[in-house]
Amino acid sequence: VTSEPVRIGLLGCGNVGAALVELVGQQAADISARTGLALEVSRVAVRSASRDRAVELPEGALTTDAAGVVADPDIDVVVEVIGGIEPARELILAAIAAGKPVVTANKELLANHGAELFAAADDAGVDLLFEAAVAGGIPVVRPLRESLVGERITRVMGIVNGTTNYILTRMTEEGTTYADALAEAQSLGYAERDPTADVEGFDAGAKAAIIASIAFGARVVAGDVYHEGISGITQTDIGFARRLGYVIKLLAVAESTGGDADAEIGVRVHPTMVPTDHPLASVRDSFNAVFVEGAAVGDLMFYGRGAGGSPTASAVLGDLIDAAANAKAGAHAALGRLAKARIRPIDDLVSAYYLNLEVIDEPGVLAQVAGIFGRHGVSIRSMEQEGLGAEARLIFITHTAREADVQATLGDLRELPAIARVGSVLRVIGE
Ligand SMILES: NC(=O)c1ccc[n+]([C@@H]2O[C@H](COP(=O)([O-])OP(=O)(O)OC[C@H]3O[C@@H](n4cnc5c(N)ncnc54)[C@H](OP(=O)(O)O)[C@@H]3O)[C@@H](O)[C@H]2O)c1
Repeated sequence: VTSEPVRIGLLGCGNVGAALVELVGQQAADISARTGLALEVSRVAVRSASRDRAVELPEGALTTDAAGVVADPDIDVVVEVIGGIEPARELILAAIAAGKPVVTANKELLANHGAELFAAADDAGVDLLFEAAVAGGIPVVRPLRESLVGERITRVMGIVNGTTNYILTRMTEEGTTYADALAEAQSLGYAERDPTADVEGFDAGAKAAIIASIAFGARVVAGDVYHEGISGITQTDIGFARRLGYVIKLLAVAESTGGDADAEIGVRVHPTMVPTDHPLASVRDSFNAVFVEGAAVGDLMFYGRGAGGSPTASAVLGDLIDAAANAKAGAHAALGRLAKARIRPIDDLVSAYYLNLEVIDEPGVLAQVAGIFGRHGVSIRSMEQEGLGAEARLIFITHTAREADVQATLGDLRELPAIARVGSVLRVIGE
């Protein structure tokens, strides 16, 4: 049997694009034997034609005319690994309009314009697949939208940013300061020179929006995600976390209050106290994991390499084969109708909290502090005290409380003359 040729138009040939070219080259014979599809990277669009490429490309394949690749009638499937909003958005819309399936790794684009793109793909009856956009090489999108489509998912919690997980792991295991751990991550190429998108939680926030959209079938965008980063985490917090039986992880959390039309979706990214016996606590270095809680299936965890050219290209290739097979069968995958999302304000979050207060060490302070907690209905589960010369540090873990009440408590505490400083406030899971 001769295999059906599938001509790929690749937009972008950087970390992911180059790794994809290499992977297709390595796997083409196996893929052809198993699926009857003969994948070939026919044309490759880049920004700079003169740059040296890490991979060998077919003679004449390289061009700087991305729109021309999309419009080329010889191109069957388009892979977008340029990144950013424009021109990626226009190119994807043009491919869809031309009836071509699209595979993308672009979390930023999907987290901001996903609804528009999914609707266009649905209307045109073509695939828009994006496994690589969340947690790189780890299969998360397809399990959520296919295997778990019948499941009522209550919560998804992910370690979806390798840079911050690397930094927190160094701080936890080597006692490194935040600044030193960040510098180390930069020298290893894990962190960008401007690390804001990673360390302040924007990257994880984009992935959280995509996860929430698929898990709950609703239009959640990056702007809906509440986020806090890790730049305020200190060795003091790390040390207390350890003593109390936790590790600090930057989690992307998407949860739904119920399965009905009134259900609200909470979606947030923040450093979190994770019990050391929780599966997410064992996810170290730059590894990623996504922990899914389902009503019938119980707990699931997907673990692996959340970034890097080769792992990400693996996810893109899986989508490519799926898209090509669907196109051959005249079928396409659909996300279904995405409902308007009712986003739960962060003030309504109910969680346990870790609070770190520096106080003047004098009689009566503890009673004043306890009084303020009591006034806002925030009840204390445990307290530790540590001397700091004329000052003392008080570490509290609360029972579950409403975010708004905890913030009101903090507001009053800041007014108290005996409080020298309100340090980190972290949400605690596993209560
Ligand atoms: N790297 C990862 O580990 C990873 C993981 C998951 C998802 N992703 C996503 O994958 C996408 C690509 O990431 P990457 O790391 O491969 O990026 P990258 O290394 O910066 O590569 C981007 C590529 O796009 C090309 N390009 C830029 N503007 C273009 C334009 N207007 N027309 C045509 N080509 C253009 C660049 O051309 P030149 O080479 O000529 O500059 C380059 O080849 C992003 O959406 C990213 O978020 C990456």
